[in-house]
Amino acid sequence: MSHKILEGKKGIIFGALDELSIAWKTAEVIKQAGGEFILTNAPVALRMGKIDELGKNTNSKIFAADATNLDDLNKLVEFTLNHFDSKLDFILHSIGMSINVRKGKHYTDLNYDWMAKGSDVSAVSFHKLMQTLYKKDAMNKWGSIIALSYIAAQRIFPNYNDMADNKALLESIARSFGYFFGKSKQVRVNTISQSPTITTAGKGVEGFNEFLSFSEKLSPLGNASSEDCANYIVAMFSDYTKKVTLQNLYNDGGYSSVGVSQEILDLVKDRIE
Ligand SMILES: NC(=O)c1ccc[n+]([C@@H]2O[C@H](COP(=O)([O-])OP(=O)(O)OC[C@H]3O[C@@H](n4cnc5c(N)ncnc54)[C@H](O)[C@@H]3O)[C@@H](O)[C@H]2O)c1
Repeated sequence: MSHKILEGKKGIIFGALDELSIAWKTAEVIKQAGGEFILTNAPVALRMGKIDELGKNTNSKIFAADATNLDDLNKLVEFTLNHFDSKLDFILHSIGMSINVRKGKHYTDLNYDWMAKGSDVSAVSFHKLMQTLYKKDAMNKWGSIIALSYIAAQRIFPNYNDMADNKALLESIARSFGYFFGKSKQVRVNTISQSPTITTAGKGVEGFNEFLSFSEKLSPLGNASSEDCANYIVAMFSDYTKKVTLQNLYNDGGYSSVGVSQEILDLVKDRIE
């Protein structure tokens, strides 16, 4: 897919850590589609990850910012506006983290300091980012802002732990802020609810491989890959989706609409026979 549907568009991509990251693949596909961007991640991730490589490959500048820190966000947006000498057309928030998940703390025994930190990083940071863009009037008319979510915001996935609550808040923030962004600046705000995908964040969830295999068997089109997600994001950043806003959009091979599939029934049948 090499259509230059993002030609002339400029933005910021949060969350590329390594080549498995959804944001990494998205940066590559946006570049192919003609978009230009600043790459950003938390300072610690810049030290540990491989983002320099992505910066070189996509001819993009990298700017360190902790997405929970308003001062960092202000500096990042200022830097980007100056760098491009224009307002912005697209923003990708591809950030998630739960210390409770990381440390194997059960949902019925959460550490609330860790929960607050995870919520700040995974959900409130999206509000902080949009508030920074809004106050600086940094977005062009018909700009597009996307955050990545997961269906655990609507349905129970026991091992997803407090990330389910973070995603529910993230989706709500997208709608609430999207209303004001739409009304006063004609900017659209959506979340994309992605299939389970093998990445550093994804692999942190207990039983992730079983998860992956289950949803592959349930979804009529199979799981959506990082590349599928990247292509969808490009479509959402393009002018072809100008009136899509305040939505949680499933990029999941049909998973969210299926009760049970024949493949799962066959597996259960084998078990009980
Ligand atoms: N992998 C999956 O199965 C899956 C499924 C649905 C949705 N998602 C979502 O996709 C998004 C990207 O995750 P991924 O799977 O590509 O994993 P990833 O680990 O590659 O990306 C997560 C990113 O968040 C960044 N981050 C963490 N704390 C930060 C902070 N304080 N400031 C700035 N950045 C910070 C990390 O450095 C990392 O780059 C997340 O929102 C995740 O919840 C992932």
